[in-house]
Amino acid sequence: MVETAPNLISPPLPAVWPRFDQPLGLGVMASGNGSNLKAIAQSIHQGDLHAQIRVVIYNNPGAQVAARAARLGLPAVLLNHREYASRVALDQAIVATLNAHGVDWVVMAGWMRCVTAGLIDAFPGQVLNIHPSLLPSFPGLKAVDQALAAGVTVAGCTVHHVELAVDSGPVVMQAVVPVVATDTPASLQARIQRQEHRIYPAAIALAAESRNCT
Ligand code: GAR
Repeated sequence: MVETAPNLISPPLPAVWPRFDQPLGLGVMASGNGSNLKAIAQSIHQGDLHAQIRVVIYNNPGAQVAARAARLGLPAVLLNHREYASRVALDQAIVATLNAHGVDWVVMAGWMRCVTAGLIDAFPGQVLNIHPSLLPSFPGLKAVDQALAAGVTVAGCTVHHVELAVDSGPVVMQAVVPVVATDTPASLQARIQRQEHRIYPAAIALAAESRNCT
């Protein structure tokens, strides 16, 4: 389908992207497709986001993100949550893997598991998530379906710092898209994802720059 709906509010990307003393060391956590991983990698490759993806962690064997990581030449580690006795034990393994790869910033890109304090506290203020709604509206699963069911006329996506409650924490950046009468969950999700791919690299840079300035 040809996309005819205009972008309602697309925050501008930085005219000049921040440079850091060292490239940001990113650890990307994903459960599924990995299109946000690809967008972040492209932004780095283009010289916009001053970062390196040091490791990709995924929890579902066979997830598309593993193949994407391989195509991008990135190390990928499967930590299958089904093999851990608890969320705490899984997160201990995640933290150990992130530390072993020299990660500074944890970037959850379609990570569909609740996280524990052990992960959040290991990277204070440096754990980010993206969610396909205008938080605080529609946290949790099937956010796009929730938005359509509620009859909203605008939807969007949010990059935020991660706190313990699901899809909560200070907002770093949001983008807003229109909802049109003919929208299905798939068409609206595709429109939102185009904005996710624009804002996530910029939001990582903004979050890191803000931290540098404090
Ligand atoms: C993205 O739309 C992201 O916002 C969502 O999962 C998708 C992953 O897509 N995350 C959540 O719903 C987290 N609550 P991707 O695997 O193609 O990057």
